[in-house]
Amino acid sequence: MVGDTIIRVAASEDLDAFFAYLNDHLRDNGSGATALFMPMARAASRFGPERESAFRNATTTALGQPGWRRLWLALDAQGGIAGHIDLRARPEGASTHRALLGMGVHRDARKQGLGARLIDVAATWAGAEAGLDWIDLEVLSVNVPARQLYARCGFVQTGEIADMFRIDGEALAYTFMSRKMHAL
Ligand SMILES: CC(C)(COP(=O)(O)OP(=O)(O)OC[C@H]1O[C@@H](n2cnc3c(N)ncnc32)[C@H](O)[C@@H]1OP(=O)(O)O)[C@@H](O)C(=O)NCCC(=O)NCCS
Repeated sequence: MVGDTIIRVAASEDLDAFFAYLNDHLRDNGSGATALFMPMARAASRFGPERESAFRNATTTALGQPGWRRLWLALDAQGGIAGHIDLRARPEGASTHRALLGMGVHRDARKQGLGARLIDVAATWAGAEAGLDWIDLEVLSVNVPARQLYARCGFVQTGEIADMFRIDGEALAYTFMSRKMHAL
């Protein structure tokens, strides 16, 4: 039950289970029940082992250093992963006051408020602990559930690129959203 889930920062020992969860999660990408949420062809939607070590290194990179990343997991009463959220450095060197957000909720745990709880945890850390001024994100425009969640959680659309991707024969737009952490 989602009500029993706790949300905590992922430790390095959690990452093998996280990668297994993520690959299962990616099976939903554009499955029909779930909108396309990663800009990847359906048949290629997985997080390969070649990306795991870079991810591991990023989670131990100090905040403010290029390539840093922090991951939080929602864990159910049995310790299973019910959702995740991460914040990571932007690639631009002069944007260390901002972070990029990525997230997902297990197919069995959606529409129960866990997505909003995950955003709350990450945003509280970003503003109160990390001293970040903005959280940015990119979302496929067809992913209406995600866009609605982000808008409800204070993200404002800053732009949209039409025909950003051509995936499985479909032209897809990309929406950009940002949330200010506190008054500048
Ligand atoms: C987008 C996603 C993260 C949302 O997670 P979630 O846990 O379902 O989000 P929430 O439950 O907080 O909110 C989703 C909806 O459930 C509703 N909801 C929340 N609690 C509810 C409850 N107890 N009962 C019924 N509905 C509820 C919310 O009002 C919201 O409805 P809305 O979309 O009409 O506004 C999830 O659908 C997902 O993982 N999708 C696939 C991956 C993905 O899109 N990731 C983002 C990539 S940019």
